[in-house]
Amino acid sequence: MTANDNGRTKNENLGAAKKAKFDEFYTQYLDIEKEMNAYLDFDKEVFRDKTILLPCDDPEWSNFTKYFAQNFERLGLRKLISTSYAPDSKPKELNLQLTLFETQSPKFDKSKARANGKIFTLTRDTTGDKKINVEDLEWEYLKGDGDFRSAEVSKLRDEADIIITNPPFSLFREFLEWIISADKKLVIIGNMNAITYKETFRLIKDNKLWVGATGFNEGMYFRVPDNFMYAPTYKFERERDGVKVNRVPGVCWYTSLDHGRRHEPLGLMTEQDNIKFSKHKEVKGKGYQKYDNYDAIEVPFTDAIPADYSGTMGVPISFLSKYNPDQFDIVGMCENEDLYELKTRKYTSAECKAAYLAKFKKPGTYDLNASGVLVTDGQYEKVYQRILVRHKGAA
Ligand SMILES: C[S@@+](CC[C@H](N)C(=O)[O-])C[C@H]1O[C@@H](n2cnc3c(N)ncnc32)[C@H](O)[C@@H]1O
Repeated sequence: MTANDNGRTKNENLGAAKKAKFDEFYTQYLDIEKEMNAYLDFDKEVFRDKTILLPCDDPEWSNFTKYFAQNFERLGLRKLISTSYAPDSKPKELNLQLTLFETQSPKFDKSKARANGKIFTLTRDTTGDKKINVEDLEWEYLKGDGDFRSAEVSKLRDEADIIITNPPFSLFREFLEWIISADKKLVIIGNMNAITYKETFRLIKDNKLWVGATGFNEGMYFRVPDNFMYAPTYKFERERDGVKVNRVPGVCWYTSLDHGRRHEPLGLMTEQDNIKFSKHKEVKGKGYQKYDNYDAIEVPFTDAIPADYSGTMGVPISFLSKYNPDQFDIVGMCENEDLYELKTRKYTSAECKAAYLAKFKKPGTYDLNASGVLVTDGQYEKVYQRILVRHKGAA
């Protein structure tokens, strides 16, 4: 396979294009409003006097810009900055046309329109109607293409108090790091898989980042460009409120703004009551099994966490949508590298092979070190990815 001008092979280029297309998903106004309301319900002053940067947001498309511009006065914002990514830096297949808003503006510059990003700022009433709203956004071309990693957008980040957006999904890790390294507050959308990235999980464990208040586990509908092609297996709604949408499963909000759901205690039964009354057949009449490789019990459902267990418990990732830091401590995660130094046993390659043969009756390797392992009648069973938690104040 030969490499092209950009140093990528043809296959890599296709992969990059697919990924890039996946980045063109636009968040719906109602989803933004619902999530922001959760922060406002908890602290109505949360945005007061704050500078908010929306670094992947062209007002022509972005409801983040619309929401914060329309609510500028009500939220008491100091400054709103929204930057957009240059048309030429987006996938060609999008065939992006310049808008009348831009081409009819006195600021229109043909030499920059496709290659440069734009910056929109809102601080004051420019129309003279004594209101500050979306009509008052002022804009100009950026020097570069608006890549969030550029020096000019990074400078805007440094000026901001809170970074909010739905970033390019393909650059999530880098984007989060870009915000965290500057020690800024954030509200961003991302794939739920990102919870298990070690950089993300460490922040979650240390209560520097948590999942948002809405939409966890349900999937979200995003507006997509008119020429968006659905996957052949897609069987969800294709239109909402007159716009073309695509449902993306397993996405959630990540934030460092507080919200009320985080402080609602999870109602739980004791270990004995779970064994007697649990609605889960895996727990009722059976109780909880200890892992072979962690000093912890396996709790397969968040609502089956025993209220009176003082040791470490392995719970599903979805626990995070119920996680209340006043009620639980997160001590780690079951994973290969033993980053949290909680493993009590590491399996050899021979053990992983033997476990595979015993379970699947054919040769292979069962990656037992990737999660918690239960042993039943001599048979090894690796459970799904687990977070390891303890009741707050437990020994
Ligand atoms: C998932 S979309 C979301 C857009 C908008 N934030 C919203 O929620 O409606 C991400 C946007 O980031 C843009 N983008 C991709 N790579 C970027 C980069 N390196 N820097 C800035 N923006 C980028 C994409 O073109 C796309 O418009």
